[in-house]
Amino acid sequence: MEVIIQESAQAASLLAASFFSRLIRRKADAVLGLATGRTPLLLYAELARLHREEGLDFSRVTAFNLDEYLSLGPGHPASYARFMKEKLFDHINISPGQTFIPNGLAENIPEECARYEKMIRDKGGIDLQVLGLGVNGHIGFNEPSSSLASRTRIKTLSRSTIRANADDFGGEDKVPRHVLTMGVGTVLDSRRCLVLAFGSSKAEAVAGMIEGPVTAGLPASALQLHPSVVVILDRPAAARLKATEYYEWVYSHKPEWQS
Ligand code: F6R
Repeated sequence: MEVIIQESAQAASLLAASFFSRLIRRKADAVLGLATGRTPLLLYAELARLHREEGLDFSRVTAFNLDEYLSLGPGHPASYARFMKEKLFDHINISPGQTFIPNGLAENIPEECARYEKMIRDKGGIDLQVLGLGVNGHIGFNEPSSSLASRTRIKTLSRSTIRANADDFGGEDKVPRHVLTMGVGTVLDSRRCLVLAFGSSKAEAVAGMIEGPVTAGLPASALQLHPSVVVILDRPAAARLKATEYYEWVYSHKPEWQS
């Protein structure tokens, strides 16, 4: 894993955006894996700016989102389909037919999950998957105890995730209990993963993900098995890491050709 520590979430997000812009400039029909939540907001704002001011062209890009709440359609204000439209898709020139998210309204859930996996495969797989991190170490909505080989499926949210997302729904009791999410195995199939984590509430999960044992108890730790993961943190999120000095040493010696 490449661990990069920045002085602020803003600086981290600008750096994250540069990974996307370089990819899209090199490969116009790139397949992106996208996340929702608070963490990627500054990244999406910067991608919108790069499109608006520097002509970053998303017209041939495809995007797959990690997850969606069960029973919420794109019209629901707290659905992730709505989130993506408002925070990113409305501000770039991606074709609406090329943006995909699991269908929370699907009647046959196993069939919907298999269809989603197949669509990702048919597009040639995900080039760059951005990931936020749950305080409990989840990626996507793969809560602790998720199989590290799991594929897109229905999951039950943990109490800690329900609590973390309660504001989006106006109270814990209103948060759906179930979601459709790409599995850990689906995420591991991406060609590159870019994990973002900001703030002290993520510090413990960050330390487990990078320096702890690989365990279903902290699903993000499975990323240690992936050959190309970049983790971009702000200082508070990096606070519990043991080898910070080494990560900073490596980053300051990074050869130009490696970026
Ligand atoms: C969102 C997702 C989740 C979030 C995580 C962190 O699509 O899959 O794993 O990335 O819950 O959420 P925030 O960014 O709100 O702290």
